[in-house]
This record gives sequence, structure tokens and C-alpha cells, in this order.
Amino acid sequence: MRNALISGIGHHVPDRVVTNFDLEKMMDTSNEWILERTGIQMRRWVSEGDTLSGLAHSAAIKALEMAGKKPGDIQFIIFASLASDHEFPGGGCFLQEKLGIPGVPAMDIRNACSGFLYGLSVADQFIKTGMYDTILLIGAEIQSTSLDLTTRGRDVSVIFGDGAGAAVIIPTDNKEKGVLTTHLHADGRFANKLWADAPSVNDNPRISKELVETDRIYPKMEGRFVFKHAVSRFPEVIHEALAAAGYSKDDLDLVIPHQANSRITEAVAHQLRLGMDKMYSNIERYGNTTAASIPIAMSEAVEQGLIKDNSLVCLASFGAGFTWASALIRW
Ligand code: UT7
Repeated sequence: MRNALISGIGHHVPDRVVTNFDLEKMMDTSNEWILERTGIQMRRWVSEGDTLSGLAHSAAIKALEMAGKKPGDIQFIIFASLASDHEFPGGGCFLQEKLGIPGVPAMDIRNACSGFLYGLSVADQFIKTGMYDTILLIGAEIQSTSLDLTTRGRDVSVIFGDGAGAAVIIPTDNKEKGVLTTHLHADGRFANKLWADAPSVNDNPRISKELVETDRIYPKMEGRFVFKHAVSRFPEVIHEALAAAGYSKDDLDLVIPHQANSRITEAVAHQLRLGMDKMYSNIERYGNTTAASIPIAMSEAVEQGLIKDNSLVCLASFGAGFTWASALIRW
């Protein structure tokens, strides 16, 4: 069986920079609070004319360029996002249209912060079985347009950002390279600890004037509860990947955790007994971009030379669902 290799990676974020000071003008918050509790200094939010499939397309073009491929080479699209350009169909079809490759299958994955790793696991299986030879995997998110930008929603709204990352995945016969192992988990008992309650298909009608006036339409999080679970699930799932592939944490060149909160990343480093130089972080510049966070971080780490040929990299996520996941990659 072949291994799945990431042969191209790219990212794209919207131009509009929103600092903590900008948020101070919208709600009762402060740069100090946001920085101290999350590590975030700024995030990118979309402007008029930006679209989810547009962000994904720009990231995809960069990943294809690095892989030395053209859109016409893509045999399968996996699109991980909480959202789509429209209520339906899923975002993969809108991206496929922009890439100009009608007929190519497009699968949508909606596993929030773990979406990219769920997608990577799917891509890995399709490469292993020989079903496809060139897969485009996207993690893309526009969160900013769904946030409650009043003081009522400040605990959630200050955290999230927009952006997209893309990976081109091809087979390799080298068993030491590429995706060595992936691990996926979910626990729906905690779905309402981080969610948007509405619009819900269980409401009839689904959307009403009354609904729009409530806060049910905004993302909600029990921050401390989520935090507590995150700091145990991250190390657990990283250890799981290392054990499955027969490595120890000392073999790791880099960990790319989902960028949820710099305090979570520090706690995970502490539990793994890894230095912070082994934990990639860009949350200070982008906030939490949900499904896009891991591919954006991986793309930057490659650009910065932190991931090189032969680097052993662990990707790990935790988020809404709850879902959590990991992948160990030999670059
Ligand atoms: O990506 C998916 C996974 N997500 C996560 O892993 C996120 C996990 N959770 C967290 O990162 C943190 O829980 C938060 C950053 C969301 C919140 O930090 P916290 O230290 O847990 O704060 P808290 O929610 O316990 O709130 C502490 C205080 C409260 O005031 P009182 O009740 O102590 O008077 C909040 O009302 O901070 C207040 N607060 C704020 N103050 C200023 C909440 N949000 C803000 C804000 N600005 N934006």
C-alpha cells in the first residue's frame, strides 16, 4: 500500500486586519484581556466581495503551484469547513466551479476545528487504496460574519478569524514518508458546549423574525469547560499518534496544534514536556480560524523553514462536537 504525501501546501487570509483595539470600539473588551487570556493580538476578517470559496481558491492555487500541479490534475476535492458560500450545497462545489474542473468529486466535511484532520484521514485512505492520485484538501472558514459583535458575545467573538489553507496530496511508495498515522475522535455529549443552536431544521419555520432577534443564532461556548477538555484531549491524541507509529515525543521536529488559545498550546507543551520552540503558534496574528488553522500554520511553518524534508510533524486538533484528532507526518 502507498503512503499519502503532502506535496504542496498554501494559505490565504483576507486583507482586512482587525486588532484587539478595533474590537474595543465594538464591545466592552480590552486588548489586555484578549492578549492575556488568548494570546491573540489581531485576526483577519473578510470584507465586501470576499467569499469562502474565493479564499479557498487562492490557497489552492498556491498549494498546486508548490506541488507542480494544475487544477486539471485534481481528481478529488475534500472541503473542510463549518460553512459554505450558501446554505447549500457545500463549499466544495463552489470551489470546484472556481477551479474550472466540472465532474471532479467534491466532498464536504463539517467537523469544525478537526475538519482538516478528518479530511486528511479520508484523503489518506483514498490514496492508500489507489482510488485517487491527486487530492486537494481544503480547510477554510469565514467566522466573522456570524459573530455577535456586542458585549453579549464578547467571549466568543474576540477569538475567531477567517482564512483558508490547502494541501495537495499524492501517493508515495516510500513507507517512511508522508502520513504515517491518523486518529479521529468525537463525543457528541458535549455538542452544546460549543455550538450555534440556530438556525435549526428542528424549528418550524427554521428562520423567523423572532429568531433573528434572539441570541440563538450566534456561536456560543462554555469557555472553561471547553478549555479543560482541550488540555487533556490534545496530549492524549498526540501520544496516540506517536505510539501507533512507534515514535516518542523526542523524535518530533514540530507540533502543529489547532490554534485555539495560546494558553492551551502552552499547557499541552508542558504536559508533553516539549519546549515551546517545538509548538507552532500564529494565533497572535490570525486568532482561531477553525478548520483553516492547521493548514495555515503548516503552510507558514514550511515557508519559515521550520518544516523541511524529513521533518517529523504532529498535527493535532480539538473543537466543536466535541471532535479531536491527530496525524503524524514525515515530510
Ligand atoms: O477552537 C475550538 C476550541 N476552543 C477552545 O479551546 C477555547 C477554550 N476556551 C478558552 O480559550 C477560554 O475559556 C476563553 C478565552 C474563551 C475565555 O477565557 P477564560 O479565562 O476561560 O474566561 P471566562 O470565560 O471564565 O471569563 C472570565 C471573565 C468573565 O467575567 P467575570 O464573570 O469573571 O466577571 C467574563 O465575563 O472575563 C469576562 N470576559 C471578558 N472580558 C473582557 C469574557 N470575555 C471577555 C472579553 N473581554 N472578550
